[in-house]
Parts: sequence; structure tokens; C-alpha cells
Amino acid sequence: MRKISPRLIYFFGALGGLLFGYDTGVISGAILYVQRTLGLNALEEGIVVSSVLLGAMIGAMSIGPLSDRFGRKKMVMVAALIFFIGSLGSAFSPDFGVLVASRVVLGVAVGGASALVPTYLAEVAPAKMRGSLTSLNQLMVMTGILMAYLVNLGFSGLAHTVSWRWMLGFAALPSAILFIGGIFLPESPRYLGRIKKFDEALQVLNMLRTPEEAKAELAEMENAKDVKLGGFKELFSKFVRPALIIGVGMAIFQQFMGINRVLYYAPTIFKTIGMGDSASLMGTVGLGTVNVLITAWAVRVMETRGRKEWLLIGGFGMAVSLIALSILTSLSVTGIMSYVTIVAMAFYLIFFCATWGPIMWTMIGEVFPLSVRGVGVGFSSLINWGANLLVSLMFPVLLEHFSMPIIFGAFAIMCVLGSLFVKHFVFETRGRSLEEIESMLHQRAKDSATGAVPHGAMIQH
Ligand code: GLC
Repeated sequence: MRKISPRLIYFFGALGGLLFGYDTGVISGAILYVQRTLGLNALEEGIVVSSVLLGAMIGAMSIGPLSDRFGRKKMVMVAALIFFIGSLGSAFSPDFGVLVASRVVLGVAVGGASALVPTYLAEVAPAKMRGSLTSLNQLMVMTGILMAYLVNLGFSGLAHTVSWRWMLGFAALPSAILFIGGIFLPESPRYLGRIKKFDEALQVLNMLRTPEEAKAELAEMENAKDVKLGGFKELFSKFVRPALIIGVGMAIFQQFMGINRVLYYAPTIFKTIGMGDSASLMGTVGLGTVNVLITAWAVRVMETRGRKEWLLIGGFGMAVSLIALSILTSLSVTGIMSYVTIVAMAFYLIFFCATWGPIMWTMIGEVFPLSVRGVGVGFSSLINWGANLLVSLMFPVLLEHFSMPIIFGAFAIMCVLGSLFVKHFVFETRGRSLEEIESMLHQRAKDSATGAVPHGAMIQH
């Protein structure tokens, strides 16, 4: 087995997040040019934009579970290959049909990556740094979004018939890098342990830990009960239920808090305060940069507080920022006050980037037991993409009936409900090994079977 440095392992392990971010971010700029070249109507435009989301649902639910069977590494390489094909397919699309098909293919890879990256990072990270390392996923997502804004800006000078092809095709480059990185990436030690390749698991652990730590962690893996591969039936079993509730609940709330709508709405807000086209693009790039910096900060400070505490701080901060946005947009403020609108939006994004953005993906990677981790992360990720699709389809309809201040208010209510959900249903995972989290689930199932815990009650820590 080739030895590679921990930094490279974490980097390539997280790189899938970059493509996830790039492919979701690029379309907001590219669609203008696609529309002009292919002459799309509003419905077709909507289909081009949301086809990635549909593909992502398929990818999360297929590639995630397949990684339980074939390993995380192989599936990362498969996802990289699909990314590559989807990117080139989009760039060379002769018409609407091929473009939509290519974007569904691309979405499959995006969804796959969204399930694989948190799983892989959670499984290679040492317990005390797991929150920080799994947050690299979201850092890559944010960097990918910023990269998309910059690439769009760079290619926007070309003729509109070709500019969008370069914008969409550019993703082929990082996909190729991910594929090559995948060749060198070691398999996840947890997966190797599950298929009883303990020698190989130890070799991987030795790349990432001191020899003593590696041995101790292997012993913990060997002592874990014989882990049989589970499927959907196990995912919905009583034993896994507390983890499933966390995965599904957090996935839904993360989207219903409105993140992607606020991100897409940013250029509109810049325009309504009188910025021209290029100034508003620059404003968007500026906001994207702030998002990356804040997420980088979140990676550093993630382990200083429990996950629950960060989530509650984030939920509160986003709710307050959204209420401010709601009031400011309802007053149709002008002059200096319009800059306050941008500040409120920046605060919302800062709170999201530091908390719910990374932690949702972190927690779905760590709450599920090994036997169903791929299925569980895949399913939670499917729900996240489904909720994303639902919000994006509902948004234009909502806008027809309600004004933006009301929609911001509704997102604020979701932040409050999400915080209540965290308070009552989420258990703390910081500082615990994945095996400890799993034995907590076993203990709870045992207690509830013997009546020590009232049926339906959650583990509180
Ligand atoms: C999170 C969300 C995703 C969003 C991204 C933007 O990863 O899951 O939907 O696009 O953050 O920051």
C-alpha cells in the first residue's frame, strides 16, 4: 500500500465537495447564456437548473449504499468519472435534451459525493478532530461555489454561444484531479475493518495516527461486534432510529432555513440597491469570499464547542438575521439603509457557514452505525437534495402569492423549529469515537427493550 501524507488524504477525501459546490453554483451565471443560445422558455430553464438536484437524489441513494458494499475509495473514483462525463456532456450539448440528460448524470455524481465525502472523512479522522476534518467538506463546497462565480466572471467576456460551454465544461478539470487523487487515496480503515482486512486497516491507520493510537483504534474496531452489512430494513430498525431521526431532520431543516434561496437572491438584492451588472457580480464574489473565510474559521473552531451548541447558536443567529431582512425588505429601504440589508444577509450567511452548513454533513457522517453507514448517509443526503429541490420548485410559486418579507419570515420560523429539533432530538457526538457512538445506540435500544427508557425518548447528552 502506497504511503501518502495525512494532509493529502484529507484534501483528496474532501475534494468531492468542491465539485458539489462548483456544479451547484455555476448554473446561476451560466443559465443566462444557455437560455440565449438554446432559446429556452421559463419552464425549460427551470428544468436545466433543477435537473442536477434530481440527479443528486439518485446519486445519493445509489452511490452511498454501494460504498458499503464496494468500499468508499472505489465509489469516489466512480463518482469522479461520472463527474467528468457529465461535465463534458453538458459542455458539448447540442440541444436542451442532451443538456438536461448530462446535468442529471452530473447530479448523480454530485449526490454521490455528498454522501461519500462525509462518510470517508468521518471514518479516517481521529475522534478529537473529526468535527474539524469533516467540515472540510463544506469548506470545499463553499470554495467550489466561489470558484464557479470566478470562472463565470472569467468566461463571461466570451461570445454567449460558447461562454456557458466553458463554464459548465470547466468542472472536468477538478473531476480528473479527483480521479487521479482517488488512485492514491487509501481505503477507509472502518470499511477495511468491516470486511475483516485488519492488517490493511492498520496500515492505513499508521499513515494517520501515531503507532500507539493506531493499535488502540484497531483494537476498538476488532472488539466491535461482528458487523454485518445492513440495508433499508436495518436503517429503519429501532436500533438505528435515533440516528435516522437526526439525519433526516437535520437534512430537512438545513434546506428549509432557506440557504440556497438566499444565495441565489444575493445578486437580486445587489441590483435592487442600484448596483449595475458587473458591480453586483463583484458583490456576489465578495460574499462568496466571506463565506469561504468563515467556513475556514469554522473548521478551526469546530471542536471548541459541542455540535449542539454550535447548531443552536447558528439557528438563533440566522433567525435574527432573517427577521432583520424581512423588516428591511418590507420597508423598501434606500440610501445607506440599503447597505444594512447586505449586512443582514452577510450575517445570515456567516451563521450558516459556521454552523448548520458544515455540521449537518458532519453529523450525518458520524451518527449511523457502521453496518448501515453508507445507506444512512445516502438516505439523509437524498432527503437533503429532495428538500433542496422542493424549496427551489416552490419558491417561484410562493413568490407569486407572498412577498419576499413574508418568505424571509417563514425561513426564520424554520430556523426556530430547527433549533427546537436540535434541542430535543440531537445527541452530542463531539469527542466520541464512532464505535462509542454506535455502542450508545446499542445501549439505548437495550434500555428501551427492557423499559429503562420510555419508548420514543431520545438519548440526551
Ligand atoms: C450546504 C447545503 C447546500 C448548499 C451549500 C451552500 O452544503 O447542503 O445545499 O448549497 O451548503 O453553502
